Amino acid sequence: MPLDLLIRYANLPDGRTNQDIAVKDGRIVEVRPAIEAEAVREIEARNRLVSPPFVDTHFHMDATLSLGIPRLNESGTLLEGIALWGELKPLLIVEAVVERALRYCDLAVAQGLLAIRTHVDVCDDRLTGVEALLDVRERMKPYLDLQLVAFPQDGYYRSPSAAENLKRALDMGVDVVGGIPHFERTMQDGAASVRALCEIAAERGLRVDMHCDETDDPLSRHIETLAYETHRLGLQGRVVGSHLTSMHSMDNHYVSKLLPLIAEAGVHAVANPVINIVIQGRHDTYPKRRGLTRVAEMRSHGVNVAFGQDCVMDPWYSLGNADMLEVAHMGLHVGQLTSREAMRFCFDAVTANPARAMGLEGYGLEPGCHADLVVLQAEDPIEAIRLKATRLFVVRRGQIIAETPARRTALSLPERPGAVDAANYAPRAVQ
Ligand code: FE2
Repeated sequence: MPLDLLIRYANLPDGRTNQDIAVKDGRIVEVRPAIEAEAVREIEARNRLVSPPFVDTHFHMDATLSLGIPRLNESGTLLEGIALWGELKPLLIVEAVVERALRYCDLAVAQGLLAIRTHVDVCDDRLTGVEALLDVRERMKPYLDLQLVAFPQDGYYRSPSAAENLKRALDMGVDVVGGIPHFERTMQDGAASVRALCEIAAERGLRVDMHCDETDDPLSRHIETLAYETHRLGLQGRVVGSHLTSMHSMDNHYVSKLLPLIAEAGVHAVANPVINIVIQGRHDTYPKRRGLTRVAEMRSHGVNVAFGQDCVMDPWYSLGNADMLEVAHMGLHVGQLTSREAMRFCFDAVTANPARAMGLEGYGLEPGCHADLVVLQAEDPIEAIRLKATRLFVVRRGQIIAETPARRTALSLPERPGAVDAANYAPRAVQ
């Protein structure tokens, strides 16, 4: 029996070159040079980078593509964004949220983004977003993995019905327990919310992903409580601290104690560089803080760090296009992650690292993994980030589900006829 798919002469993110990837029954069966086998479909990668798909472990799909509804965020600030979301929330209907989310998923698939963890606001007694995104999760299952986080946007204690709604959302099938401790009324309430929410997750056998310390206040230390509760409840490896921007401004001595605690608890860290750089530092005059959490320092302590996208064309952010290479590009710059090793890490921060944070099963390029792959118009991870490379082929469970022509511009310069290619070669599909 022939293979379903054979990809030839691939460069892999770990630096291996000239690798053939054999696919059968939706799984990778072999990765090595010069595989001799028949295949229903072949892709000549020609030393282009073949990667597992992009993964976005921090997103808000209930708000995406709502730009301009009911009005635009004229100031571009977080405060106007929050006010706008408050105006939009009562107007939401399930059908419209589903329609926007499906359109976003199409865009994600085209960009090779095949796993997304989305927060869904549960501070709406109708649970419109929950109902809509549970439907989208099922409908998109053949194409991408969607995880939902029950997110009490207006505060677990601060919003009167949040606690009840969060339980209802989990009962309906939402995957992960969320939180927003820095938004509660007091530091004490914030810490209590972390404890209560982690206990709910432990009781139900669920994962945790909290918006944690998304502020420039160096005394916002809920990550400490999150690490403590993770350790106390035996949730190691199952908890994500998202944003962690206060760590940018914390006292160095305190951070020297904090980082080993995060590592000990196995808490994953997710920075959202595109949003952090526009939202943080807004109360500063000059110098203005960047606000990105301490990515390099956490890595050096062995913490798994990923980059998320957070927002695309919604009340908080007018730009974005499901391109995780744009997110990696921003993280590289804002975090000054410019050593060769750190630039390669930035590619991992939008692929393998978020997959680990989400606990995705069968993710990777080893034999036995799902045959979920992206062929990029770039030779290696650093070039992919530099070019925000075209996704030439997107493969899900061994089937090509998206194709984009290689980027190539014809020149009309009388003295210099020719063409400019974003990269030197383009792979070719053979039927
Ligand atoms: Fe967020």
